[in-house]
Amino acid sequence: MKRIAVLTGAGVSAESGIKTFRDSGGLWENYPVEEVASIEGWHRNPGLMLEFYNTRRKELENSRPNEAHRIIAALESRYKTDVITQNVDNLHEKAGSTHVLHLHGELTKVRPENCYNDRDGFSTQSVFDIGYEPVHLGDKAPNGAQLRPHIVWFGEPVPNIEKAITLVSEADILIIVGTSLQVYPAAGLYRYAGNDTPIYLVDPKPAELRDGRLVKIPMKATEGMRKLAGMLGLEGYGD
Ligand code: APR
Repeated sequence: MKRIAVLTGAGVSAESGIKTFRDSGGLWENYPVEEVASIEGWHRNPGLMLEFYNTRRKELENSRPNEAHRIIAALESRYKTDVITQNVDNLHEKAGSTHVLHLHGELTKVRPENCYNDRDGFSTQSVFDIGYEPVHLGDKAPNGAQLRPHIVWFGEPVPNIEKAITLVSEADILIIVGTSLQVYPAAGLYRYAGNDTPIYLVDPKPAELRDGRLVKIPMKATEGMRKLAGMLGLEGYGD
């Protein structure tokens, strides 16, 4: 079976009603990113950060995957498929993808604020699933420390980046969906694709990349993934 790596960003969930970050009307227009998504913000005002993620988590409870998520899950019928997502939502999992690597953490998980270490960023044993429940100041982990969202904030390492590099470098096909490719190290991942690996970029406003391997599909995620599914021979799509 050929291998596909799919790198996704906020745009893949836009048609599920989840706001992107940098589009007009995006999240960072209403919330200063340094207040709600940086480690300095957490030290300054953890209550505000908890509220911000409580709201995002609550919104997620009622969000459903869209056709793009479902097509990405359906790729597994023909390809060994690994999803690498910058998104903290769980819509790839809800759509049925079985191999999802979260680069920037997961909204439905928390961990004690003091389990950080330089090697992995945090210890995976201390990550807890909380579903869609809110977290407040004073909510403690079994080790007595304040719980924090299991999210990678600006100023923090990206523990899963090495795994992602391996998946991209081993892929026969790379698909990138709905990301402005402005945030590193995720934005540099495509460079690890093999010399002959086609790279499909599905985005209504595709990032300016000059790369001979690149095939741009300037469409929204659902429409673009439908087209790509046809090109990749997925049953039920194409002619
Ligand atoms: N279908 C596909 N793509 C879309 C759609 C859609 N319906 N709507 C918007 N887009 C595209 C935009 O054109 C843009 O290229 O989605 C992209 C969204 O870009 P960003 O808002 O920058 O989101 P993303 O690239 O995922 O951000 C990366 O930044 O703040 C951090 O941690 C956050 O993971 C996030 C990271």
